Amino acid sequence: MSKVFEFAGENDFCPGGPIYTNPKEPSLFLSLGLPVDVFFPSRKRSRISAPFVFSEERFEQKKQASIEVLPDECLFEIFRRLPGGEERSACACVSKRWLILLSGICRDELCSQNRSAVKNTEVKSKIEDEEIEGDGCLSRSLEGKKATDIRLAAIAVRTANCGGLGKLFIRGSNSSRGVTKVGLRAIARGCPSLKVLSLWNLPSVGDEGLSEIANGCHMLEKLDLSQCPTITDKGLLAIAKNCSNLTDLVLESCPNIGNEGLQAVGQYCTNPKSISITNCPGVGDQGIAALVSSASNVLTKLKLQSLNITDVSLAVVGHYGKAVTDLVLISLPNVSERGFWVMGNAQGLHKLKSLTVTSCLGVTDIGLEAVGKGCPNLKQFCLHKCAFLSDNGLVSFAKAAETLESLQLEECHRITQFGFFGSLLNCGANLKAISLVNCFGIRDLKLDLPELSPCTSLRSLSIRNCPGFGDGSLALLGNLCPQLRNVELSGLQGVTDAGFLSVLENCEAGLVKVNLSGCINFSDKVVSVMTEQHGWTLEMLNLDGCRRITDASLVAIAENCFLLYDLDVSKCATTDSGIAAMARSKQLCLQVLSVSGCSMISDKSLPALVKLGQTLLGLNLQHCNAISSSTVGILVERLWRCDILL
Ligand SMILES: *[C@@H]1O[C@H](CO)[C@@H](O)[C@H](O)[C@H]1NC(C)=O
Ligand SMILES: *[C@@H]1O[C@H](CO)[C@@H](O)[C@H](O)[C@H]1NC(C)=O
Ligand SMILES: *[C@@H]1O[C@H](CO)[C@@H](O)[C@H](O)[C@H]1NC(C)=O
Ligand SMILES: *[C@@H]1O[C@H](CO)[C@@H](O)[C@H](O)[C@H]1NC(C)=O
Ligand SMILES: *[C@@H]1O[C@H](CO)[C@@H](O)[C@H](O)[C@H]1NC(C)=O
Ligand SMILES: *[C@@H]1O[C@H](CO)[C@@H](O)[C@H](O)[C@H]1NC(C)=O
Ligand SMILES: *[C@@H]1O[C@H](CO)[C@@H](O)[C@H](O)[C@H]1NC(C)=O
Ligand SMILES: *[C@@H]1O[C@H](CO)[C@@H](O)[C@H](O)[C@H]1NC(C)=O
Repeated sequence: MSKVFEFAGENDFCPGGPIYTNPKEPSLFLSLGLPVDVFFPSRKRSRISAPFVFSEERFEQKKQASIEVLPDECLFEIFRRLPGGEERSACACVSKRWLILLSGICRDELCSQNRSAVKNTEVKSKIEDEEIEGDGCLSRSLEGKKATDIRLAAIAVRTANCGGLGKLFIRGSNSSRGVTKVGLRAIARGCPSLKVLSLWNLPSVGDEGLSEIANGCHMLEKLDLSQCPTITDKGLLAIAKNCSNLTDLVLESCPNIGNEGLQAVGQYCTNPKSISITNCPGVGDQGIAALVSSASNVLTKLKLQSLNITDVSLAVVGHYGKAVTDLVLISLPNVSERGFWVMGNAQGLHKLKSLTVTSCLGVTDIGLEAVGKGCPNLKQFCLHKCAFLSDNGLVSFAKAAETLESLQLEECHRITQFGFFGSLLNCGANLKAISLVNCFGIRDLKLDLPELSPCTSLRSLSIRNCPGFGDGSLALLGNLCPQLRNVELSGLQGVTDAGFLSVLENCEAGLVKVNLSGCINFSDKVVSVMTEQHGWTLEMLNLDGCRRITDASLVAIAENCFLLYDLDVSKCATTDSGIAAMARSKQLCLQVLSVSGCSMISDKSLPALVKLGQTLLGLNLQHCNAISSSTVGILVERLWRCDILL
């Protein structure tokens, strides 16, 4: 045994007991990085006289402690001989210097036989600020000012006892005292089983920091780097070489990561399942091609956003993306029609189930038709902001995509009613949901179409903010889709009772969820017919902003709705008597009620609201100006089970 060790006296310092008087008080430990004082409890025969105080860097002691004169090397030798994790944790509380030294000890440098002798449960019960996730992984998240090297070192030392941290999330701030390679080195040494690492907004972490992780954490599976401008291909290369089990890689706004880094991931990682790359100007076709082609059999999820890639990348995806099930392509200005055409015709995307394309000018009629033909198992398709796509392309796509279950179109202004109904009529028998949002090319259709075979598979319909959508279109939809259950028509000022009544008339299934928010021209007639016909199925009804809806609707709801649990009549013309009618209802059993902005509902509704409140879990009374604060006070008191929004 070394002289140093004898001198220190094994039992004299860092005796086995917990350092905190209250073991459930980890704040002492945690606040090491902050300017607070830490008390060291006095011990019999301790060579370190107590109490002593340290604040931040400064380390004050009443008497000179002999052990402090030892150089780092000697302390290191002492620390690695400590019998267990408890003791190491305790010593780490002494000073920043001790903490840094302790956190620098690798697992295989420990002399003790009890490297991880402390039972997991014992230690975990003391680690309160770490979440223990369902998979048994310890997880820790540091944000803003708390993201410092000292805290990382503390985490590393403390969690080393129980096998180390499994997941680490660091959300940096732009403050100068950010995380550096020192903190990451501590993690790398103390947490060899780290599986998930997420670094956001950390300009102070560079390749050396990431290489530390690569050296120590060979089991890393998920890496998420966002806004880390100093990390380059070199850092990613180190990870790729040493963490061959990397499955998930997310890169966002890392300007110095480029093709070489991605090539390395393709070359060294055996199982990259999910890749997401956003706004990395250094990434081009070369990197994407290398990665996708070498991961051909394993890559299942791919997202490419705001990248300077061309048709070449899409061709590679189409050819090699044999295992890809989810593909997201957003803002790819240099991809042309040819890219989408080749991607579809390459015939590799046979497993693709979900495709999202946003802001890609290359999505033209020809491009989209090819995609429809090339993805024989596509189930979900979302198309946002595709300025050049027209009706013909959409209809050809729908004809080709026979397995499609869900189609969502948003801000595709060249799509008109012909494209919309054409795709509805030509989709296969699997289409269950269709959604049209902010499409300004839609005009109302007043056509006498020949007898059409209905689309019996469609269950959910959503039309939002398409100003041209009117009664003619709505009536036609009602005719075509007799099996609708969920209907959302919001912000449609062009539809009136007549349109919706024909939907109700044709509806063979019971409506379950109905959202008519912002359809200002609907009247009580709609609600009374709907509740009479669908009162036994209707569960959710949103009439927010339907200002012609009055108490008559609430009376109809009170009489006819047996299953309704969520009702929103915000900004409707409802009054106290409508609320009273609902309160009198025997069958109504609301859990959520919103009367926000109903200025005619007053204090008189107090008894009725209390009555309704017996079943309510949520009540929105925002902007109810005729309800006084004393009434609100009583409601809050009486409806203690219910969340009241004020
Ligand atoms: C190892 O740990 C066990 C139980 O935690 C303890 O009884 C034993 O004394 C420890 N051995 C050493 C050498 O510290
Ligand atoms: C740092 O963040 C603060 C607040 O978030 C912001 O006001 C400031 O401009 C930022 N500084 C830099 C250099 O980004
Ligand atoms: C991989 O890890 C080993 C030791 O764990 C280290 O020697 C080597 O330098 C690491 N390689 C890279 C590229 O970081
Ligand atoms: C990688 O995963 C395989 C299979 O799950 C496992 O056997 C191997 O130990 C892992 N490698 C590392 C370095 O964790
Ligand atoms: C895109 O790539 C081309 C060719 O590789 C290059 O000339 C151009 O500067 C890149 N543009 C951006 C914005 O990175
Ligand atoms: C992408 O488009 C920009 C501008 O249109 C052009 O300057 C650049 O060279 C293109 N990049 C590639 C790789 O073609
Ligand atoms: C809907 O109501 C608004 C305002 O009351 C009115 O200007 C508009 O003409 C109505 N629309 C239809 C289709 O009736
Ligand atoms: C109803 O539609 C509005 C407008 O689109 C939306 O904000 C709201 O979340 C929807 N409500 C429900 C319950 O789906």
